[in-house]
Amino acid sequence: MGDFSADWLSLRARYDTEARAEVLEQRLARFAAARLNGSGRALQVIDLGAGSGNNHRHLSPRLPIRQHWTLVDGDEDLLRTAPQTTDISRKHADLAVDLEASVPETADLVTASALIDLVSRNWLVRLVRRVEEVNAALLVVLTYDGRIRWSDDDAEDGWVRDLVNTHQRGEKGFGPALGPDAPRAFQDVAGPGLATFSSDWRIGRADRDMRIALVDGWATAAAEIAPEDRSRVSAWALRRRESEADLIVGHADQLMLPAM
Ligand SMILES: C[S@@+](CC[C@H](N)C(=O)[O-])C[C@H]1O[C@@H](n2cnc3c(N)ncnc32)[C@H](O)[C@@H]1O
Repeated sequence: MGDFSADWLSLRARYDTEARAEVLEQRLARFAAARLNGSGRALQVIDLGAGSGNNHRHLSPRLPIRQHWTLVDGDEDLLRTAPQTTDISRKHADLAVDLEASVPETADLVTASALIDLVSRNWLVRLVRRVEEVNAALLVVLTYDGRIRWSDDDAEDGWVRDLVNTHQRGEKGFGPALGPDAPRAFQDVAGPGLATFSSDWRIGRADRDMRIALVDGWATAAAEIAPEDRSRVSAWALRRRESEADLIVGHADQLMLPAM
């Protein structure tokens, strides 16, 4: 929850890759090829909240054309851990303030991975407006949608999930965060042209490191919302850290394409 450390981003990358909606990547690849249409230039991609470059690592090989990526993030140290290749530029910016300036007229694709559950509805309106202004595609992936489902029952699962979702709606630097409401809000703001597919994380009983990282993050968030119930949250976390259950964490991938 709000952990953007390089270790966490590296741990989640495998689950992100397995979860992402291939059908949207195929649509995007067709758009990109048609957009460049043998021009010889590179597709200009702007990755908002790029962190250590996971979105580039995943998506770049799936777009069968030359690309130039600009990775935008507020954390310079994380940006430094992204791949150092000639097809990548880095931009250090606070996206709450510098959103419009970070999306140049030349952008063909604006993308964001695991970002828009942190933002407010107003920010999402600004994003869609700017992307439409520059006539780019917008691919937003791995947005948390509020679902946390274990394959067996613990009486406290729903209670903890609700506390986590309350925490998700707190301020994350962009005004009141949309948290689990982000996919629906994006659909609402972008309209019927937006395609939405689920991209749920599937965490098996053997995925101990991922399960523990999630349970610990959720327990910290839940205890911040209900400090008086700290020991009840800790007891839940102790059980779930060693759980034998499978776990699904709901996410959505969404794509908006411009008129060609
Ligand atoms: C959950 S991480 C996702 C990172 C990356 N997109 C990925 O999928 O691995 C969210 C990213 O948003 C960045 N971020 C959060 N608030 C920001 C802000 N106001 N301006 C710029 N970047 C911000 C964080 O530094 C972090 O890298």
